[in-house]
Amino acid sequence: MLELCDLTVRFGKEGSANAVEEISLKIEDREKVFLIGETGSGKSVLLMAILGMLPDSAAITGRAVLDGRDILNLPEKEMRKIRGTKIAYIPQGSGEGMNPLLRAGYQIGEPRVIHQKERMAQAIRAAAGQLERFGLKKEVLRQYPHTLSGGMKQRSLIVMGVMEQAPVLFADEPTKGLDPARILQIVDCFAKLKEQTLLCVTHDLRFAQAAAEKICVLYASQAVEYSEKEEFFKKPLHPYSQAILQALPENGLQVSEGFAPPREDADAQKGCHYRRRCRFCSEKCEEKPPMFEVGTRKVRCWLYAHRS
Ligand SMILES: Nc1ncnc2c1ncn2[C@@H]1O[C@H](COP(=O)(O)OP(=O)(O)O)[C@@H](O)[C@H]1O
Ligand code: SF4
Ligand SMILES: [Mg+2]
Repeated sequence: MLELCDLTVRFGKEGSANAVEEISLKIEDREKVFLIGETGSGKSVLLMAILGMLPDSAAITGRAVLDGRDILNLPEKEMRKIRGTKIAYIPQGSGEGMNPLLRAGYQIGEPRVIHQKERMAQAIRAAAGQLERFGLKKEVLRQYPHTLSGGMKQRSLIVMGVMEQAPVLFADEPTKGLDPARILQIVDCFAKLKEQTLLCVTHDLRFAQAAAEKICVLYASQAVEYSEKEEFFKKPLHPYSQAILQALPENGLQVSEGFAPPREDADAQKGCHYRRRCRFCSEKCEEKPPMFEVGTRKVRCWLYAHRS
């Protein structure tokens, strides 16, 4: 189980806006949790903070407990053991994370050579099996990244992520830049990850709807709603969640003033972060709302104070 407790990340001096603020999230083994948020809402920073991959300028507080052990602030040597073997990471960008100078097979096999001390030939044989599992031909092994399409590169990165059979997989915007057919291939790939715990961040609501079990919505560095997927899409609770769902084409693309990039200044982060755009805003919203429990769901909005 992976549990985040009040995870907060700030760049720059005290008093500047938080990039990630007080995020608490419990992810059970084998659960597929999708974090939805616009550009700049803190998705990548959240993943990097857990993985210990942020620069020294990041002030990180809170806890990230993996199987009973807080992995924030572990020495780099310890973190190196966790990355790849306990948590695999699929980086953002449709495959740009691959080294252009090395054949795909070498790159896919390399983590097993480094961490599990396998010989490269053995690792490449294992890679061929995984490629087939994810709908790619083994010829991909001999190709250089620039000869692969965006979708093939993204799937190769997923294969890289599962090569060491880490129980937890982080994926950062795995559908970015892909067309709808390629996005479906990624959905199929993720459906095969039955044994893994998946924490995927995305701005793509449709992709999340197809592949998630639970949805967590981020707005301006905070988690504002956490729900089972079906309940979320049937009846979003937070005013911001309602605005983003209304903006989907089948709901008439009604872009309300609530659908706008989050402000980044520290002043906007006082009170409810969403208050300047919320049509339900009241005086109370100058005060920061906590996460309220509504049945099995959680929502950060004063409208639900009386229901929890
Ligand atoms: N290395 C960094 N130094 C300073 N600020 C950063 C750094 N990385 C990210 N940020 C800031 O943190 C916030 C969240 O960024 P990010 O997590 O990359 O957003 P997302 O992935 O949701 O698009 C943004 O305001 C961004 O400018
Ligand atoms: S707390 Fe207030 S401003 Fe924030 S989302 Fe709820 S009603 Fe809107
Ligand atoms: Mg990002």
